[in-house]
Amino acid sequence: MNRVVSGPRRLVVTGAGSGIGRATAALATARGWTVAGLDLAEAEGPVPSVPLVPCDITDEDSVREAFRQVDSLWDGQAPHALVHCAGVYRFKPATLTSAADWDAVVNLNARGSLLVAAAAAERMTASSGEGGSVVLLSSIAASRGDAGEPSAAYSASKGAVEALTRQLAVEWGPYKIRCNAVAPGVIDTPMTTVSHNPEAFEQVLRRIPAGRLGTAEEVARVCLFLASEESAYVSGTVIAVDGGQGAS
Ligand SMILES: NC(=O)c1ccc[n+]([C@@H]2O[C@H](COP(=O)([O-])OP(=O)(O)OC[C@H]3O[C@@H](n4cnc5c(N)ncnc54)[C@H](O)[C@@H]3O)[C@@H](O)[C@H]2O)c1
Repeated sequence: MNRVVSGPRRLVVTGAGSGIGRATAALATARGWTVAGLDLAEAEGPVPSVPLVPCDITDEDSVREAFRQVDSLWDGQAPHALVHCAGVYRFKPATLTSAADWDAVVNLNARGSLLVAAAAAERMTASSGEGGSVVLLSSIAASRGDAGEPSAAYSASKGAVEALTRQLAVEWGPYKIRCNAVAPGVIDTPMTTVSHNPEAFEQVLRRIPAGRLGTAEEVARVCLFLASEESAYVSGTVIAVDGGQGAS
């Protein structure tokens, strides 16, 4: 049976000031979604028509307060979907990774995913049985090691995001909340510095069957597919958006 969806769809996008989050907010707005963006107060490039709510996803109180502000923006109506793009990458060989380095990256990427997803799900479960869709951002680093620009903390954090995705899909399935992850390869965003290093760039390109980096909008399209009812029977899975790199 097709679920009939009426009215504007409400989407929360974290990391909406840059890269994939910004592209997701822009594309969703162009497609008629009502979007609220969350990002650090000092975030630089939010989409002009999307309200940007300040939020530090490493801080539980800040996440709570940001979602309260979204409640106010939408008169208490729950989001239909969350695309959680806020994240951080730090190049650091394993032997140079301190406990503090590990905590900074793993807490932001893994713990932050839980805090934001739980805040969204809390509202979705209260939304008279409508449920919703949670989309987390993993990375090709969750499934492949990187000799060129390694970051053990980053890889581990994204492995945790994928495990979390499966757990939340099972735990929240009874509330009609789906949870999936998108695992980008190398995407041309401010997070990716490799494109400024010609030698490293050539090496990376050789590993990508598509022969180029991905764009933020190419990832955004898949995020919105998972956020929308187009993917109504998809949950607990990870979709790679990597130009075939994971297969090479
Ligand atoms: N760009 C890539 O090649 C790539 C590859 C694989 C996975 N990813 C993942 O995709 C997601 C988006 O990456 P991107 O390339 O758009 O990065 P980006 O650096 O362009 O944007 C990240 C956003 O997260 C926000 N942010 C950082 N710390 C935050 C915090 N504590 N609280 C709230 N917001 C915070 C930043 O302000 C920024 O707006 C990340 O999870 C990243 O790990 C990116």
